[in-house]
Amino acid sequence: MKIAIGSDHAGLPLKRALLAEGLSGHEVVDVGTHSEGSTDYPIYAFKVARLVASGEADFGVLICGTGIGMALAASRVPGVRPAVCTSEYMARMARADNDANVLCLGGRVLGPGQALEILKVFLNTKFEGGRHARRLRMIEEGGGV
Ligand code: RB5
Repeated sequence: MKIAIGSDHAGLPLKRALLAEGLSGHEVVDVGTHSEGSTDYPIYAFKVARLVASGEADFGVLICGTGIGMALAASRVPGVRPAVCTSEYMARMARADNDANVLCLGGRVLGPGQALEILKVFLNTKFEGGRHARRLRMIEEGGGV
């Protein structure tokens, strides 16, 4: 699979850990940041989100301090469904129920071991479709009410 990954300074150590251990066997595009200096997470969120939305990447991984800012920014790109996950259960459900295509992680929340397990589950869980697809369509359509 092709994975686009990005982080700000707060997510950089965790991104480095995932690049070193979690993504072997995948084609990876690292959109930055590449240095420890303070930077702005929306830059990387939009780069990764656009790669996923265009189909140039199958999935995205975004890491900031909490994962929240990345998810807020990435969700502004149509076709992108980011999910902040802090457990393997959340990662499984984000894929199975929500067809999330961008995993958002908190570099100040998760240790590398925990994050690696979350990433593995996210990449290996399939969307279940059915009623979940209907609900995703409702989101696209503004709630269906
Ligand atoms: C940066 O200090 C921090 O605000 C950012 O990484 C992120 O947690 C925002 O959601």
